[in-house]
Amino acid sequence: MGKTIWSGRFSKPTARDMQEFSASLPFDRRLFDADIRVNRAWAKALRESGIYSDDEYRQVDRTLESLLSEHRDGTFPFDPSDEDIHSANERRLTEILGAVGARIHTGRSRNDQVVTDFKVYIRDHLDELSGHVQALQAALLTLAEQHVHTLLPGYTHVRQAQPISFAHYLLAFFFQLDRDRSKIIDWRTHHNRCPLGSGALAGSAFDIDRQALAADLGFAAASENSIDATSDRDFVIDCTGLCVQIMLHISRLAEDWIYWSSEAYGFLSVDQMYATGSSMMPQKMNPDSLELVRGKTARVIGMHSTLLNLLKGLPMAYARDLQEDKEPLFDTLHQTALAVRIVTGVVQTIHVHTEKMRQTLDPALYATDIADYLVRKGLPFRQAHEIVGRIVAYSEETGQSLDSLSADEFVQFHSCFDPDVLDLFDPQHSIALRNLFGGTGPVSVRQQIELAKQMLTLNSNVLLV
Ligand code: ARG
Repeated sequence: MGKTIWSGRFSKPTARDMQEFSASLPFDRRLFDADIRVNRAWAKALRESGIYSDDEYRQVDRTLESLLSEHRDGTFPFDPSDEDIHSANERRLTEILGAVGARIHTGRSRNDQVVTDFKVYIRDHLDELSGHVQALQAALLTLAEQHVHTLLPGYTHVRQAQPISFAHYLLAFFFQLDRDRSKIIDWRTHHNRCPLGSGALAGSAFDIDRQALAADLGFAAASENSIDATSDRDFVIDCTGLCVQIMLHISRLAEDWIYWSSEAYGFLSVDQMYATGSSMMPQKMNPDSLELVRGKTARVIGMHSTLLNLLKGLPMAYARDLQEDKEPLFDTLHQTALAVRIVTGVVQTIHVHTEKMRQTLDPALYATDIADYLVRKGLPFRQAHEIVGRIVAYSEETGQSLDSLSADEFVQFHSCFDPDVLDLFDPQHSIALRNLFGGTGPVSVRQQIELAKQMLTLNSNVLLV
């Protein structure tokens, strides 16, 4: 076992349990890419400030590049003394280059290094996640285009409420996900400051051009305050927060489709590629993909909550507690990206039973349209609601469905009723009444589809601002 990076001050080795307790390498090795990138930018900054000569810089940069290949090929020789990815890379660089390598740690701390690595890592992975969300939006849009005229009962309180177009329902998720995607863009705006150069907490004592360093790492500017920079994990919470939001959205689709693909509804069938069977009951085909989306949503919420708890009351500036930010973040990003891709697959392969949807429409769904009919004849809505309520009660008492009542029976409840009231029992007619912007009518739904197409190509929801 090699020396620790703080061995000068210490006369005893770290307790064995403490080594395991303290090490973050088993999980933060995922940061290798970001750590090498940050090291290369730091080496360049050290050259600019005269700490490395041009030649030394070239050696360091080339060696760092070779470490990247070692990580990628899985040949990087980790040592039991490596506490984390930062100390591992520094040790290896020093092993290869001697004192020149060791001088990489001039004027910096792992505190500013880890926060910079982490930000770079999240930035890259959020770009990937945004791509996955966009693919899901595209799948929803494609399905919506095929189902503008597919009608089904819209539900509130899990009870049939009003007829809606299936495309309209699908587009609801499209627009929710577009807000999520714009939050990913916002993340960059809010967190586009580079912490490197902040040192342990007070700032580096070497004359580093932090703005140039920030630009080199793709940030808009250097962080304004070194205490803030080393203790800041808002960017982690904002990332898990937006993942929670994405999961909440897709978990609602999952919940609906689990029911809608059951025997009780029969509106949809989840494709075999996204279903699993039972080990005991041969007839079963279960929507496990969607159930796991629901389950993983709980997990992602839990991890977000872990991070909130981690930061509550944490003293300024760095404390080792902050090492616990890694696993929840890695897991959240991984599970969210996976869940979004699974839902995309489910949407792309879903079997839609349009006939079953239509058959399920209950005649009572037109009650609101009947009340609106009376409103168009001049009655206040409250009075119209009362009258139609009595008609519904009458139909129930007499054991008739609402659409089997005669025009004469309607007239008994109010003289404003004409025989054309019977035309209202048509779902196409019902949705066509709702062609206002944002409604479920076919004109409106087509308008939404056009808007959605533009949003997808524009990469954000700027159209709505
Ligand atoms: N592995 C540590 C982390 O993730 C790196 C920073 C260690 N800094 C320290 N002062 N011990 O937070």
